[in-house]
Amino acid sequence: MTEFKKIKNICCIGAGYVGGPTMAVIAKKCPDILINVVDINENRINAWNSADLAELPIFEPGLDEVIKKCRNRNLFFTTEVKKSIESADMVFLSVNTPIKSKGIGAGFASDLKWVEASARQIAKFAKGHTIVVEKSTLPVRTASTIKEILINSCLDKDNTFDKKFSVLSNPEFLAEGTAIDDLENPDRVLIGGIDKFAIESLKNIYGRWVDREKIITMNLWSSELSKLIANAFLAQRISSMNAVAALCESTGANINEVEKAIGADSRIGNKFLKAGPGFGGSCFKKDILNIVYLSNFYGLKEVADYWNQVVLINNWTRHRISKIIVNKLFGTVSGKKLSILGFSFKANTNDTRESSAIQICNNLLEEGAELVIYDPKVSYRKIEEDLIQKEKIPINQIVSEGSWSKANTIEEAAENSDAIIVLTEWDMFKNLDWEKLSSLMRKPSWLFDTRNITDHKKASENGINIWLLGSSN
Ligand code: NAD
Ligand code: UGA
Repeated sequence: MTEFKKIKNICCIGAGYVGGPTMAVIAKKCPDILINVVDINENRINAWNSADLAELPIFEPGLDEVIKKCRNRNLFFTTEVKKSIESADMVFLSVNTPIKSKGIGAGFASDLKWVEASARQIAKFAKGHTIVVEKSTLPVRTASTIKEILINSCLDKDNTFDKKFSVLSNPEFLAEGTAIDDLENPDRVLIGGIDKFAIESLKNIYGRWVDREKIITMNLWSSELSKLIANAFLAQRISSMNAVAALCESTGANINEVEKAIGADSRIGNKFLKAGPGFGGSCFKKDILNIVYLSNFYGLKEVADYWNQVVLINNWTRHRISKIIVNKLFGTVSGKKLSILGFSFKANTNDTRESSAIQICNNLLEEGAELVIYDPKVSYRKIEEDLIQKEKIPINQIVSEGSWSKANTIEEAAENSDAIIVLTEWDMFKNLDWEKLSSLMRKPSWLFDTRNITDHKKASENGINIWLLGSSN
């Protein structure tokens, strides 16, 4: 049997959508391991420590239960970076890796400044042998950068080695909205690395609740690349279906029927085939653009163009939907009240990063619409941050000046509106009271269902005009 280190103390750098839930589940499954989740964002840490579980910084079904059980038992949220790293046998890097906004690779490459800063902190504060685990999604070969930073810190003043590091890649595959279930029952756990001792130590943590056959080990670069490719494949299926949806609308085919037909082929499978307003979330676009950057870097232009098309179709889908809404409403939405149902990028999360709702709302605002937005979990402040602030738009690009507000109920959003536009697939939108909503709306009224989840027959029976994504109605 391969030897391993019995991990007693973990530090996770980054208390975000990945760090928080992942460490919560490890703490639940391994009550004997003490876990410190650290972050430079004090507000975030305070929110994680808040007595009212409704105030946790992220909304994720089932998370509050796990936090209630483990917080201040073997799970701690703190800003004490130095102390937490010093005492850790294993440090997870779970910091943000957004697309670079300027400099070399801007718009495509990942910005690794937070990863580098964290690696330098580990280098400075770690003691003895520390296993460093890349949890963030990283460009291929980032592990070598981390290793270099760490190795250079190993020599003490007398040029003798006083600390030792092993670097592993352990990308995360959780999806928001189902994070706890994904973490407790993963399809696979991927561990990349060469140090067998370190790999076995990490395997022994997951092995407490994940079948050994599901823990796959490989070399570092395969592990880093597999994470990017997994996201690219998922996103590619959605862009394919969004392209087919447009074809359905023109030909009289129905996207739900096409989805059923092709999903029944066991080689294709029926998951991730739902057409919609375009994929959102913090990672799909970023990870594909990273592959595009990497491919171009290695001179593989055709490969880069191939993957880039997935992102282009996604952008096109959002604009296509905005145009349809304007056209159906007699070619203008200026001064018209439109109710937006759903602002998060998918159901069961309060996350709005890259949500298609942002682009579609901004398009409608530019056309002069008065939007009333309802979302059960997204705050007013978040929407405000996401929608274009007028002073940031060059004056010659402002077509018209729309406005937006947030409604507390669906009825409030619908009152006097010309259209209800469903952008997120929240369960509560599946069975709306169309008789009531129709009576509140201005006539002729419209339903635009970009997720195909509403009871559109009932809406139609109540005199509402219907547009459904991917059918000719
Ligand atoms: P996030 O922005 O929610 O959280 C990252 C946190 O790291 C932030 O709170 C930030 O303040 C903190 N941070 C940055 N630098 C720090 C430092 N030097 N010291 C301490 N804290 C620091 O990001 P996220 O959504 O959790 O994503 C993290 C990584 O995981 C990304 O690489 C992402 O691609 C990947 N990922 C995300 C998901 C997801 O569903 N969100 C799923 C799989 C993988
Ligand atoms: C995605 C992956 O599913 C995770 O495996 C991965 O770990 C994560 O990215 C990441 O690396 O960040 P997430 O973005 O949280 O997870 O959510 P998804 O369920 O993948 O949805 C992404 C977007 O695609 C959403 O806007 C969703 O509405 C859309 N989508 C999803 C569709 O339009 N159709 C579908 O059939 C599925």
